[in-house]
Amino acid sequence: MTRNIIISPSILAADFSRLGEEIAAIDAAGADWIHCDVMDGHFVPNISYGADVIKAVRPVTSKIFDVHLMIAPVDPYLEAFAKAGADVITVHAEAGPHLDRSLQAIRSLGKKAGVSLCPATPESAIEYVLDRLDLVLVMTVNPGFGGQSFLDSQLDKIRRIRSVIGDRPIRLEVDGGVTRDNAAAVAAAGADTLVAGSAVFRGGNSADYASNISAIRAAAEAGRVPELQHSSVQSLRTGEAARIR
Ligand code: DX5
Ligand code: ZN
Repeated sequence: MTRNIIISPSILAADFSRLGEEIAAIDAAGADWIHCDVMDGHFVPNISYGADVIKAVRPVTSKIFDVHLMIAPVDPYLEAFAKAGADVITVHAEAGPHLDRSLQAIRSLGKKAGVSLCPATPESAIEYVLDRLDLVLVMTVNPGFGGQSFLDSQLDKIRRIRSVIGDRPIRLEVDGGVTRDNAAAVAAAGADTLVAGSAVFRGGNSADYASNISAIRAAAEAGRVPELQHSSVQSLRTGEAARIR
């Protein structure tokens, strides 16, 4: 199934002294979701912001808050992020021994559940939790910092996860080093949800944000795999040759 492209700007690249205004600006500039990177200085070597900051900016927009938790342990904090206004809560497969439990906890809080994989983590990490997932996030940099270069090694993983997802209603999100120059390749590999920090906030004003978002979206739309091709691949895998036309 080919889904519409979602652009989720990471506010890690915003001017934190004007965070509310920056979120309003990317909302008006055409952002679909708002990507919130939470870092603890333990699971990743950087500290960003927590649930209180997310709660404070929640009233600025009605867009989906796509909260990426780079923290360990994560389970004790899920409720706080749910109450702060997260809509999608994504945890790292590497952040603890009980991924299945974390995903159940997110859904029991009434939120969409995501899992993120670091560059060295294979796609097999999600094999037994597929039915608990609303989103898979493939890290295309090592998590912890914005502004890093996209790791081409992850394109193959994106393709494999696209195939594993099949027709399930699970979004495939890519995060790290995404730009207008690689968005087509990312979408062609099967991603339908693109996070971008530096590439969206480059320029520093609302007009730049709008042109940055539309350039990334246009590239992704142009690169994405046609629906027919996806359904054919899926049909071949399931032996339903009659569906191919
Ligand atoms: C990295 C974060 C990313 C980051 C993306 O750990 O998860 O969301 O902010 O920033 P860019 O697009 O600049 O790589
Ligand atoms: Zn992120």
